[in-house]
Amino acid sequence: MFVQWKNELNLGNALIDTQHRMLMMLCRKLDIAIKSNESAQAIQRVMLEVRKFVEFHFVSEQNLMHEIGYPEVEAHSKIHTGLLIDLNVQFSKIHHKTEFPEDFLFELNDWLLGHLMHEDMKLAQYVNSASVRPIGEHLYEQFHLANENGQR
Ligand SMILES: [Fe+2]
Ligand SMILES: [Fe+2]
Repeated sequence: MFVQWKNELNLGNALIDTQHRMLMMLCRKLDIAIKSNESAQAIQRVMLEVRKFVEFHFVSEQNLMHEIGYPEVEAHSKIHTGLLIDLNVQFSKIHHKTEFPEDFLFELNDWLLGHLMHEDMKLAQYVNSASVRPIGEHLYEQFHLANENGQR
């Protein structure tokens, strides 16, 4: 079974947690598309949606790292780039039918969980103790709270 959001995945930073939640939701969307036997084109469209969000999330985390002067920005960004390259390779394999969308989802989930509990956890802890604050951090905190309270 694929990843479902659970409280243990919260790393304590509103930006990171909000985006991780969204990412997990999109993975579930892809899981549903696969299991409900949508057409190959429909599944590939959802895969593109997931991949674009992964890319977006990586840019957000990298901006955050620069904003707070995170010392491991280069190493962490390099890991992000590695996944994007892998996803691109998988994308074309699926397009040429030498791999299945299930493989894409399985590997992505596996990767995300590992990355989240190691590199992202380290980053979240650093953000919490950093003296330089990220740009507009209250925006994500407000957004996060509004969602928790069921407001718009
Ligand atoms: Fe992340
Ligand atoms: Fe990351």
